[in-house]
Amino acid sequence: MSGAAKLAAESGRDFVPQAAAIAREAGVRLREFLAAGVETEYKGDADLVTVADRTVEKLIRMRLGEAFPAHGIFGEEGTRERLESEFRWYVDPLDGTTNFAHGFPQFCVSMGLEYRPTGTRPDDDGTLVAGVVYDPTRDELFSAERGRGATLNGKAIHVSAVPRLAEALIATGFPSRKRHASPNIHFYHEFTLRSHGVRRAGSAALDLAYVACGRMEAFWEFNLNPWDTAAGALLVTEAGGRVSDFSGGPYRLESAEMLASNGLIHEELVKLFGDMFAGRDLAPILTPKEFAHPHKTAMRE
Ligand code: IPD
Ligand code: CA
Ligand code: CA
Repeated sequence: MSGAAKLAAESGRDFVPQAAAIAREAGVRLREFLAAGVETEYKGDADLVTVADRTVEKLIRMRLGEAFPAHGIFGEEGTRERLESEFRWYVDPLDGTTNFAHGFPQFCVSMGLEYRPTGTRPDDDGTLVAGVVYDPTRDELFSAERGRGATLNGKAIHVSAVPRLAEALIATGFPSRKRHASPNIHFYHEFTLRSHGVRRAGSAALDLAYVACGRMEAFWEFNLNPWDTAAGALLVTEAGGRVSDFSGGPYRLESAEMLASNGLIHEELVKLFGDMFAGRDLAPILTPKEFAHPHKTAMRE
């Protein structure tokens, strides 16, 4: 059977129901941990991890192994199994650990499935075929199957029809590693001034799910990992949106750049990224005096 035929025969439809059940079970465990309270450990200076992250990854690993014994698993908390398989799950057992550790109810389970036909080189992406993102605090299950659309709790979802950045609500995130080197605060500033606002809610997978269902128009972040984006990227494209790198080139699982949108404002965002990296057309930074007394100072618009 050819790669394409095999993909068609084996694609998303069969995977999502089982993956959704696993994500729901994992989400129930997260809710129990949240209610019981967990201790926070540090992986880095502000990079948190809890017993919930590790326990839920173990649970997902076991359940995926039972449901799809031939599939590979690549998990944030260290699972590396059967990576030579034609199918590979990218698993984030708890996306939004910082929120979870503080009891801030914005976190999820994220599981995305990549098809990597034999012969795919290690550095090349395969094709995303299925994804689920489950928010246990709102009981919202987002899922997508390649070529068959995206759903929220079983109902079809679509990206929004907002045509301009100036009318858009958008989202971003900041890394917990290498925080001091991140340039993102500059982008946060510019995008805030040019939109209805930028939300920094602390779960990249949910941010992507929200773009997919039209609650927000776009999301970007520097330096994410495949377990953060695999499921969400498929949700966005299957809901009619677009994902790319910051220059409009193809999004890749390892690309460390994620720009997702409803499609309609994508070119505007790509242009703004281009202008910002080139230092063109940026908002001036006012001194506190200029901000407090604009009439007394030569404030630039
Ligand atoms: C983090 C969240 C956050 C994003 C960080 C991620 P984690 O994932 O998605 O929104 O800004 O870059 O690392 O560590 O909570 O799984
Ligand atoms: Ca994550
Ligand atoms: Ca995580």
